[in-house]
Parts: sequence; structure tokens; C-alpha cells
Amino acid sequence: MDENIICINHPLITHKITLLRDKNTPTAEFRKIVKEIAMLEGYVALQDATTKMIEIETPIEKTTQPIVPGKKYCFVPILRAGMGMVDGFNELLPTAAVGHIGLYRDEVTHEPHPYYCKLPSNLAEKEVVLLDPMLATGGSAIDAVKTLRKYGAKKIKFVCIIAAPEGVKAFHEANPDIPLYIGALDRQLNENAYICPGLGDAGDRIFGTTNK
Ligand code: PRP
Ligand code: URA
Repeated sequence: MDENIICINHPLITHKITLLRDKNTPTAEFRKIVKEIAMLEGYVALQDATTKMIEIETPIEKTTQPIVPGKKYCFVPILRAGMGMVDGFNELLPTAAVGHIGLYRDEVTHEPHPYYCKLPSNLAEKEVVLLDPMLATGGSAIDAVKTLRKYGAKKIKFVCIIAAPEGVKAFHEANPDIPLYIGALDRQLNENAYICPGLGDAGDRIFGTTNK
């Protein structure tokens, strides 16, 4: 696989994804686990984070030590389901900006439809981390990246929790320069473009809008 397709394959992440997949996992628990997975994935995705040196004083002496300047980052969830991942990333870098891109997938064509966009005006200066738990056909993530580029983003990463091979291929072909972090790579899409085995509709499960 290309070096920009990173399947994290960590037993703790896999364990938590299994809990998400279980249809009996209730909404509050589901939301909490999405946040935890996001934090674990963030730890991996930000391992090359920019640092800068600052002067501090320990109880013993003055010293110059590295910090990660959070303001250099912008986390961008794709609404709705990406919102579930923001808290996990914010725990890692609380001073990062958060932009929002709203897209919904047409139930029949599976094409993404944009309905909202709010991004920092200085996006070109930021390192952008795009967040969405599900990469199915890839249509939503590809559309979101087009928007980010239109707003000037130059350095982008995409972090998802579950991906289908079809979405990975489409996303990587459209954006070979963007590192794609995947918690679990699933088997395939079904006829409704849902990921199998997947976890169902991520937005519905995070926000409790399903009556199943
Ligand atoms: C889901 C998911 C992704 C998209 C993935 O959102 O959160 O954004 O589908 O599918 P794709 O790769 O085929 O584009 P959905 O459109 O269901 O909206 P929601 O988050 O508001 O439920
Ligand atoms: N969106 C979801 O929420 N789940 C899928 O399996 C596919 C797209």
C-alpha cells in the first residue's frame, strides 16, 4: 500500500471499534467511544506535529523545551458524524481552531450535497485535519477536500475510523498527497453504499436519531 494510506491496526483501537460495531451499544456509550478512538488516532496522526522551543523555568533551573503550538492546527469535522471526533482531537490540542463542513449523502445517488461551511480565514497558514468516522464511497471526503483547497488549505490530513476499500481507492486517487489514517479497513460496500460489516449510520448512532 502507498505510504499515504495508514491503517493504524492497533489492538486498543480495534477493540474500541468492535464496541462501536455492536448494534446494542447505546448512544451515550457510542459517542464516548468515538471520542476515545479519535484521541488514539490523533496521537498517531499528529506524531509529526510541528514543535517550537520555548523558555520555561523548572523548580531547578531555566530551560528551553519544545511545545506543539496548537493554533497552527485546524480540525475540520464533516457534519454531522465528524463532530463526534472533535472532542478527542481537542483534548490533544485545545487551542486548535475548529472549522465545519456540512455535507449529507443523497440516499439514492450517494452523491454528497454541501449545506454548510465555516472555516478560518487564515486556513492557508494552518495544518488541517479533516475528520469523519466513515469513508464509504469517498464522495463526502473528496468534496470536503475540494472545499478546503478552495479556502487555501495546503497541508491536509484525513482521519477516519472505518473505511471501505472503494472509498480508500477513490480518496487516494483524488488526493494522493493527503495522508489518510484509517482505524479499520472493512470488506466492502453494500448495495446502499453502507460499509460491511461497518457500524451502520454513524451520524444516527452518535446523535441518537435512529429509531432502530
Ligand atoms: C456519512 C458519513 C460520511 C459519509 C460517508 O454521513 O459521516 O460523511 O456518510 O459516505 P461517503 O464516503 O459515501 O460519502 P451522512 O451523509 O450519512 O450524513 P450525517 O453525518 O449527517 O448522517
Ligand atoms: N455513512 C455511514 O454513516 N455509514 C456507512 O456505512 C456509510 C456511510
